[in-house]
This record gives sequence, C-alpha cells and structure tokens, in this order.
Amino acid sequence: MLHIYISNISIVMIGIDQINFFKQHGWVKIECGLSDLQIDDLFRKTKKIVDITKKQKYPFIRLYHDYFFADNIAAVEAPLNQEISQENIYYYLSKINLGQSISKLTNWNKSCCSLIRLFCMENFKYSGHWHRDREEINQVVQASFYLKDEKGFKIRKKFLEIKKENRYPNNLCLDINNKLLPLKLNRDEYDIIDAKKGDIIFFEPALLHQGKYDNSRLQFHMRFHDSDSQEIINEKLYKYDFLDFDIFEHLKFDASFDARKEKLDVYSKKNNTISRIKNLINYFIPYRNLRSYIMQKTKYKVYNFDLYANTILQKKI
Ligand SMILES: [Fe+2]
Repeated sequence: MLHIYISNISIVMIGIDQINFFKQHGWVKIECGLSDLQIDDLFRKTKKIVDITKKQKYPFIRLYHDYFFADNIAAVEAPLNQEISQENIYYYLSKINLGQSISKLTNWNKSCCSLIRLFCMENFKYSGHWHRDREEINQVVQASFYLKDEKGFKIRKKFLEIKKENRYPNNLCLDINNKLLPLKLNRDEYDIIDAKKGDIIFFEPALLHQGKYDNSRLQFHMRFHDSDSQEIINEKLYKYDFLDFDIFEHLKFDASFDARKEKLDVYSKKNNTISRIKNLINYFIPYRNLRSYIMQKTKYKVYNFDLYANTILQKKI
C-alpha cells in the first residue's frame, strides 16, 4: 500500500499486493488515509447522525434485535441525507478515494454506489446469518468503512466457495436465514477479519459471509457497481464533482422522502413490549436458542449451529 502525502493529507493508493490479495481471497483491508484527528471528527459527525435518527424517529432504519429497554437500531439507510446529516459527509468520503480503489481492484472504468448503510448497533453481542448478497462473483464490490474498532467479520475462503460441490448452497442458506440460529462453520473454512477504526475492508459479497461482533458498532457499509454494467443502465445516477464515484439518486444529500421510500425496502417497526421482554430474557438466559438448536439440529443433521448467537454467551469463533 502506498501513502502519498500532499499538504499533510495521506492519500492511500492500493498497490499490486493488495490487488492480488483481493483477487485471491475475495477481500482486502486497507487504511483509509485520514489522520486520527480527521477520523475522530468524522466519528463525532457520524455519531450525531445516529442521535438525530433516534430523536427524529427517522423511518429508514433496520431493527434486527430490539430489547425491552433499548431499541438497538441496527442500521440507518441513506444516512447522508440532509434530514439527519447536518454536515455533508460526502466531502469526507471524497478524501478516501473509494472509486479509485474499486477501479484498481476490479478494472472498472468507473463505479457507482447503490447502497449506503450506517451500522450503529448498541452494546449488545450480535451475530448475523451467513449469507451471500449476490449469486454471481465479480458483479459488485462492497466496502465497510470502520469508525470504531470491530472484531469478527467472517468470510468463507474463496477457493471453497468456487468449488463445484458447495457444502452451503444458496437455497440452504436462505432456508436457514429464516431460523433463529446462524450456521456455524468449521474454523478452517473462513477468514476472520478484525478492523481498527479508519480501516476499510473491500469484499466480494457473492462469497458467504457473516457480520459478527461483541460490542457497539459505527461503520459505513456501501455497495459499488460497474457504471457501465447492464444492470444499472436504467438507474438514475448523480455525480458530485468532488467525488470519484457516482451515487444512486436516492442517496443524494437532498434526496426527497419519496425518492428514498421508493428505493429502500425498510420501514421497520419495533416489536411489541412482550416480544422485547422475551428478547431481553433470552439475551441473558438463552432458552429460545436452546429450543431452536434442538429443532435445527434435528432438521439439518450434518450442519452445525451457533447455540449462543445474539446472547451474552456468544463466542467470537
Ligand atoms: Fe452481506
């Protein structure tokens, strides 16, 4: 990785080693190049987005596990909208050259961003399901920009994923995604990626992956496409002249409520009080996990499941 310093700003250039690593493993981690002061400032501004989201009851949020005393918002969609973002954080994103990095990793001339999600869970242990965001490889790239240290992102080894006989086909994963407990893979089947604040992980979302962590979170999660690809030919794109990638129109700083509503499939509602009390009890005494474990093991005999997922007893591996 090359650091070029211009007027005290470090510009990170992805080098050939990172490109080869990405091609071989389907992921690569780099530093964003912002100074500690800039990252701290961005952290504060981003944290403010979460505070305003809660205060204003911004509707485009995701709730994965809400508890009796905590809404525990999992993520904010379109977080850079002026409704909740007081300062245009796109200026910061322009400094970390995401578009340029993606072009180097993929050989695309130009990229565009269809998803910006701010993961912001509170201080609960969390384990998502193992999933693929795409069926085919090399169509999109996802980037996670960490504003807080985060341990535990897992991605299945690429050579296992491209094998003809896949132990975890999509229909199996989708079926299990409707159950309570995520799959538990053998440790030698996946890479585990710990990130520090200021790190960016680029990854191939057609590889089986799992978000897992044991603390609160602040992370921008973004999806990029080749601007010349057929699948986005009919999309309305917007170009900021200071940014090295285009964005879908509903992600603009001043995108209307209707533009966001049309594109975002979320309108999350809190669970009722009884469910949230049960969620809280299960977090400390995982009776529901135990019941699901027995049911899931009976149904999917050769597969293993994470008995303690989303409870205080959750393990890193
Ligand atoms: Fe994903």
